[in-house]
Amino acid sequence: MKTGIFYGSTTGNTERIAKRVGELLGADVFEAVDIGKADDYERIILASSTWGMGDLQDSWIASLDELKAKNLSGKKVAFIGVGDQASFGDSFVDAIGILYEEIAGKGISLVGTTSTEGYTFSASKAVVDGDFVGLVLDENNQPELTEQRISDWVALLGK
Ligand SMILES: Cc1cc2nc3c(=O)[nH]c(=O)nc-3n(C[C@H](O)[C@H](O)[C@H](O)COP(=O)(O)O)c2cc1C
Repeated sequence: MKTGIFYGSTTGNTERIAKRVGELLGADVFEAVDIGKADDYERIILASSTWGMGDLQDSWIASLDELKAKNLSGKKVAFIGVGDQASFGDSFVDAIGILYEEIAGKGISLVGTTSTEGYTFSASKAVVDGDFVGLVLDENNQPELTEQRISDWVALLGK
């Protein structure tokens, strides 16, 4: 399936992960500011780290209005959230929950939700109906789990 990945990354973690997922899926990978290109894809993956206290990463703050203005009806949408559950357990990977809330009512088809099992945190906007809205990775505390989590998720999504 023709897939575009759009990422926002401040220190490079989400960028690296987006590129790895892109490699495995055979997807095109762009920065969030290029969200205008989403029209070209049947499936889009929106990837963001979380900053501040549960804020979107800066590139997504800059691109959010453009994302919200898009016609996403019928599009398959998946999320990748990168955060730190030990230091930010009250706002763990909130950014992808915020992105999801902003576009949930636009006729999208959410794909690639995952279990919260194996993570320790107290609150996250990324949890909807008991599951994470997407793939969740923690490079600060669980980097050794990242590659397996990515490959399991890519298998779940399918090419
Ligand atoms: C000042 C600061 C604030 C952060 N706030 C959060 C947060 O609210 N929730 C969270 O899950 N992670 C938070 N993080 C962790 C980052 O999201 C994490 O380090 C991530 O790997 C950065 O990815 P990036 O390099 O792609 O930006 C914060 C990190 C810093 C330094």
